[in-house]
Formats: sequence, structure tokens, C-alpha cells
Amino acid sequence: MAFIKLNDLEIEVEDGTNIVEAAREHGIEVPHYCYHPGLSRPANCRMCLVEPYGPIPGAPPGTIGPARQLATGCTLSVRTAPPERKLEEKYDAIVQTDSPRVKKAREDILEFLLVHHPLDCPVCDQAGECDLQDFSYRHGHDKSRYIEVKNVPPKKDLGPDVLLYSTRCIVCTRCIRFCDEVSGSGELGLINRGSHDEIDIPRSHEGTPIQLLDNKLAGNVVDICPVGALISKDFLFKSRPWFMERANSVCSGCSVGCNVTVEYKADGLYRIKPRFHEDINQHWMCDDGRLGYHYVNSDDRLQLPQKRVDGELVTTQWADALTLITENLSEVDATDIVVIGSAQGTNEDNYVLQQFAHDVLKTTQLGLFGQLHGEEHKFPQFTIEADKNPNTVGARTVLGSANGNVVLEGDELWEKVAGAKVVYLVSGVPERSLENAEREALEKVDFLIVQDVLPSAATELADVVLPGTTFAEKDGTFTNSTGWVQRIRKTIDPPGEAQVDWQITQQLAKRLGSEIDYHFAGEIALAIAENVPGYSDATHQNIGDAGIKLD
Ligand code: SF4
Ligand code: SF4
Ligand code: FES
Repeated sequence: MAFIKLNDLEIEVEDGTNIVEAAREHGIEVPHYCYHPGLSRPANCRMCLVEPYGPIPGAPPGTIGPARQLATGCTLSVRTAPPERKLEEKYDAIVQTDSPRVKKAREDILEFLLVHHPLDCPVCDQAGECDLQDFSYRHGHDKSRYIEVKNVPPKKDLGPDVLLYSTRCIVCTRCIRFCDEVSGSGELGLINRGSHDEIDIPRSHEGTPIQLLDNKLAGNVVDICPVGALISKDFLFKSRPWFMERANSVCSGCSVGCNVTVEYKADGLYRIKPRFHEDINQHWMCDDGRLGYHYVNSDDRLQLPQKRVDGELVTTQWADALTLITENLSEVDATDIVVIGSAQGTNEDNYVLQQFAHDVLKTTQLGLFGQLHGEEHKFPQFTIEADKNPNTVGARTVLGSANGNVVLEGDELWEKVAGAKVVYLVSGVPERSLENAEREALEKVDFLIVQDVLPSAATELADVVLPGTTFAEKDGTFTNSTGWVQRIRKTIDPPGEAQVDWQITQQLAKRLGSEIDYHFAGEIALAIAENVPGYSDATHQNIGDAGIKLD
């Protein structure tokens, strides 16, 4: 550990920590633009200048003072110094982040950065979460001396989801470095020179795009742009950031389990952004996960139970649907029932489902359903997995946790389904088609119950449809492909009369005389911790925002 004096604070930081991070760890802001902890450090914006202290040349030994030049805090890393090089006999470094020289330098840099800026905060999507706006207020001049004509570079459509408002760009090059270092796709570069620098995609001499910013990680450039230059078309003009609520959650788009922040209002989800997790997604997420939330807001969401009458599905009351289901379940032997959990459901949903199957229906025949596998996409610093379910590992373990439970998948499952009289399929998988074997098996079932979030190929075959909930409408946990158990959080209410999946299952259990009686997802997590091998530490309290890794 390095022992440093930062302004008036004496602090210890890991060897190799730069001053921006050392200061941040101790609540001191060193404003910066080009520096991003997930990217290389070109030190081109000069916003993070700080004043290091050191020996004064020619002065008596041990005399120290401010260095002749300010240094960039993003590249100034501190390390444990040998005893003879300690400052004031104990410090590995002495750095001022708020000296008059530093403050003057910041003001001047900000004045330069704003020379060509349009100052259009009132109509800028980034206003309210813009480092240029915030640092200008906190560290800048209150007026500009620039009275010349400003450059007005064009607005550019860079790709399917990203617009560039070039006038707002401060040429920090974060976006270029992201495309070089993380996605490895290299679509962005600088054109022109000096104060006419512009970010652009490759174009022909006539200006026609040769390559668009169209990689599956492209949305990250919008997140890391410190100003309102790179804008998401999906979010453009939808909401001011201060009007949205935020919840820490986990992406449900694949088994990576990227940590995310879900931004929402009462009427639906507005935006999903990545949240740092060192071992899972670092600072990033993919566009499939980022833009895949729209089904949650869909007008087509299932809102009421349905039952089949004269071959047609018609809406009905919950009480009627549940009665119909329990009557059918009561009429058949346990061996004629198959209960299928979901890799899109939480561990808590699947735990109550297996309890219902094992303890109430007395069947040990369970199955696992989920999104069809897609493609794996590998980037230099990120992988999108082929398993497009967030909880395959967790659902499989939890469903199989009771004595004798067998969790069938693939052909084995559909063979079993084809011979069953009653099947309870908890799906929750958006936009999932059925493969031939799956369809043929489900068509043979005498009484098919499908719990889902949208009309689907499976609900089309159902005798009763129950409206369930998405990841955004319930609390619970997912276990990702590498064994991290992580929390998802309820943000919005489910549409209409849709209900949380484990609560639906619990109602069925109660109607069949069970005493299963959970009140919230955390209670179920405690039961999982007690009864599911490997999950003894996986209580909601322990999991927190960082998740826990199973042994
Ligand atoms: S577009 Fe944004 S991220 Fe890219 S160089 Fe300009 S300010 Fe930086
Ligand atoms: S990699 Fe997977 S978990 Fe991460 S954002 Fe993409 S779809 Fe979501
Ligand atoms: S953040 Fe250090 S020079 Fe840009």
C-alpha cells in the first residue's frame, strides 16, 4: 500500500492507483474527461491536472515543494517508495488537487473545451447527467471570453442506435478507444485537424458511410461519452434523467448476468445501463440486453387469466382459472403430471414451483424451459453467451433440489410431456417459438396450463393461460453461468392482473391444501439457503448489490 498525503488527508491506497481513483475513494473529485477506468489513458483532455510535490532541485536535502509542472491525475500513479525517497520521511507521494494553480488550470481547460460548444443544455439529452455541465458549474468560469464564430460540425447518424451531435463533442476519444480496445471493431476515428477535429465512421470521398457503428456493444459509447455528443436513438427525448427512478438489477438477456441499473417510471421501463461488476461485466453490457426491455412495456402483455372455451381462449377471473386448474390436477395421478420451470424465472419462482410439484402434487417429474439458444459473440474484452436465459444454472439446481426430483431437458422432457395428462409450464420467455418436437408434445397434453408474459406459441396451445411477470416486476435472484447469485429488483407493477410467478404457484398449492405460505422473495431465499446444496450463503441480505459466488 502507498501512504500518500492528498490535500490535507493522509490516506493509504493500493500501489499503482492513480490520483483520480485515489481521490475518488476518499470523496475528493478530480474532474476528468478522457480518463475511463476501463480504457487506456491518453491523457489528452488535461482536465485532471493536479499538483504533485517533490524534492526541490538545488535545495538542501529533504526540502520539498510543488513540482514545476502540474501532472495529469489520470496517469499519475502512486507506489510505495523506498525509505530514502519518502517525502517528509513518511509519504510515498504528496499531491494537491485543489491548490490555486490547479483551480486556475481547470478553469482554463474548461474555457477551452467550451469554446466551440453550443451550450445547448436545455435541449440536450445528457443534461442532468453531463460531466461538462457539472464540472463547468463546479470548476469552471461563469462566463466565456470567446466572441468569434463557433465551429458547427454536422450531426451524424453513426449506426442503428447511435447519433453523434458533433458540436457537443470534446474529442476525449473515449468512444474511439472503446471500439478499439473493448469491442475491437474499430468503427470510429478522428477526421480533420486541430479545432476542427471530428469523430466519424469510415466514409467514401462522397461522404457515404462505408462502415456503421453497428457492433453488439455499440451502446456503451453512449454511456461513456462524458458529454451529450453520443446519444442513444432509443432514449432520445424520452425523459429527463431526474424524472426516472433507478434500481440495481441484473440483465435477463443471457447467462452472463450483466449488472445493470434499470431506469423506470410508473408507466414502464425507459433505459437499462450497465453497472460495474469486476468479475462479470466490468463496465459494459451488450445492446441485446440494453435494448431488449421493450417487451416489458408491450401493450400485448398478458394481463388477465384466460381459459379455452369452444376452442378459443377467453379472459376469465383468477378464481375461475385457479379452480379449473386444481380440478384438473386433482383428477389425475401424480405420474401423469409434468411441472416445467423456467430459466427466465428467478430461483425463488422455481423453488416454490418445485415445492408445489414435490410436496403437493407428489410428482418428481420436472422440466426446464427457456429461450432457445442463440449465438455466442466474443469481443476482445467481453463475451455474450449463447444461452439466452439469465438463470439456467439456478433454475436447474433449484428445481432438482428436493429428494428424488428429476429435471428433464430437451428430448427427454418433450417425450415425457407427450405422455402426460396435465402439464404446468411456467414460461416467461419473451418471443419464443416452439420447435416441432415441442409443439407436437404439447398438442398431445390433455390439459395444458401455461404461465407466461406475452401471447406465445405455447399459450396458443394452452387450456388455461396465467399472466406472470418479467424480471422488472419482481424481486428475486438469478444464478449466472459462472455461479454468481445476484439480485433482481422489482421496479414497476405488473400490467393488469398479472402476478408474480411464485405467488401464482403458491395460490395453486394453497387451493390443494398446502401450507406453503411465503410473503416475499427474501423468505424464499432463506428456504433456498437452508435446503438447496451450495446456496447456504445466498440470502438476499448476503447477496446485496455485489452478488455472491457459489463455491
Ligand atoms: S463523442 Fe463523446 S466520447 Fe467520443 S470523443 Fe466526443 S466527447 Fe468523447
Ligand atoms: S451479455 Fe448477456 S447479460 Fe450481458 S447485457 Fe448482453 S444479454 Fe444481458
Ligand atoms: S482525464 Fe486525465 S488528461 Fe484527461
